[in-house]
Amino acid sequence: MVASPTPWIACLAFLSLTVLFFSARELGGTLSPQGCRMSWMSPSYVQQIDFNTSWSPLADRYSLWLYREVGWDAARVGDSLPVLFVPGNAGSSHQVRSIASSATRQYFSSPLRISPEFSARSNVYKPLDFYAVEFNEDLSAFHGTTLESQIDYTSKAVAYILSLYPPNTQIIVLGHSMGGVVATSLLPSREISAVITMSTPFTLPPARFDNNIDSIYANIARVLENNSTPIVSLCGGATDMMIPSESCILPPNSRSLFRRTVFSSALEGAWTGVGHREMVWCHQVRWRVARAALELAPFASEDKRVEVLDRWLRDGHTLPSLDMDSVKPLDEHEAEHAIILPVGQKLVVDGPKGTRAHLLPIPAARKRFTLLVSGGAVLSLAPEHHLPFSVAVYQCSGQFHCTPFRPDTLKLLPTPAPKKPFPVPHEGSDESEGVVLLEAQLDGLSEDTTHLAVKIEQGDGRGWVIADFADEHDEVNEPASTTCK
Ligand SMILES: *[C@@H]1O[C@H](CO)[C@@H](O)[C@H](O)[C@H]1NC(C)=O
Ligand SMILES: *[C@@H]1O[C@H](CO)[C@@H](O)[C@H](O)[C@H]1NC(C)=O
Repeated sequence: MVASPTPWIACLAFLSLTVLFFSARELGGTLSPQGCRMSWMSPSYVQQIDFNTSWSPLADRYSLWLYREVGWDAARVGDSLPVLFVPGNAGSSHQVRSIASSATRQYFSSPLRISPEFSARSNVYKPLDFYAVEFNEDLSAFHGTTLESQIDYTSKAVAYILSLYPPNTQIIVLGHSMGGVVATSLLPSREISAVITMSTPFTLPPARFDNNIDSIYANIARVLENNSTPIVSLCGGATDMMIPSESCILPPNSRSLFRRTVFSSALEGAWTGVGHREMVWCHQVRWRVARAALELAPFASEDKRVEVLDRWLRDGHTLPSLDMDSVKPLDEHEAEHAIILPVGQKLVVDGPKGTRAHLLPIPAARKRFTLLVSGGAVLSLAPEHHLPFSVAVYQCSGQFHCTPFRPDTLKLLPTPAPKKPFPVPHEGSDESEGVVLLEAQLDGLSEDTTHLAVKIEQGDGRGWVIADFADEHDEVNEPASTTCK
């Protein structure tokens, strides 16, 4: 395709680094408010007519629907697990389609279905059935009694849905906007495995006309303080004109229960600002919500669910849990055959092949180490469709005494495409690609640490790795506008 790929890729890699650096700096200013992509879907909705007034007198007023992706989902529910979507203020049950469609397509197509990890456990994961309540555009934000009816109806809907599944099946509840208030109000419940809210105000909404809302919010405060069901709140931040950031943040609790607030702008690998309504269909958000639901649904243990939520709905500003013990030590043979770089030379490996360690002498004045890996994995963090190679970093005293090196930043960045604006206007970035960024401050290293070693394993000629030391001031900055806590 290109006559001399090496300089070209190196140049591209450098360019990407510059663009990453630049975009990180300028993100606040240049990000289109809706850096979202839409995807194909083929929605259909089956009304649950058996959920009638025998179940709830409100069945006259509201309805319950089952989403089916035409040509993908089986007509009958059964060997599958349920999810319930609760729309928000003046919202519609049809908003379920974005997340439901993504879950179905992820389950039945790549990568979940074909990944070795998934195949090995294909007896564990199941397709999901997405149900949605329809409140006929009730203006729930303004009337406590309306909200109470919605909570009542939704709790009966949960009971009805679970009656269609084997005993002890649990359900995941998703809520958009005030639907998240309804979802959280269903707790405590042994039947609910996790709650994910999108653009939901957890403190009192600005406009309220009656006192019933106060008691609903008082109840939510109790739930948030004391209930162990994992809850994630996805927020748009400044891009969400309806819900102020402060209101979307889950309050801390005294019992270290899993409460996670993630701003879409900081959602790992996403980098997109998401408005109030876009929160439900924005591709970068929905596929992660769908994936989290798919992977947590089969597990009864709260720890396992928390692990899954932590993996897929993670704030890129926090470090993932690092299993340093799982890093294979750098063995003598690898150290002996390591390529030793001259002081001050940046490591650029384009299309790594096989396994090779590289020793980088730490320059005296440099304060930070930055590693960018395109296509491969670092400490088990990798883009969705990643290449077989992985990269490990060690701190060494001399050539032969190396121990695994602990970063203070490890996250997935979206890949800027060459010659295209970044983030791509109206599209944001894709989950299938990405660059893993590892960074660490060097101050903490012991006196006798002379080198860092970068080991690349199982390269197949694709992807690239860049590593360099930097002064404090040329680090890749966090975008200021996304630091919301
Ligand atoms: C509700 O549906 C069930 C099952 O189809 C039926 O047996 C029952 O009579 C219905 N109730 C009403 C009030 O229509
Ligand atoms: C949480 O539970 C504890 C004891 O289980 C109780 O003392 C406390 O009042 C509860 N908090 C709320 C907000 O209900």
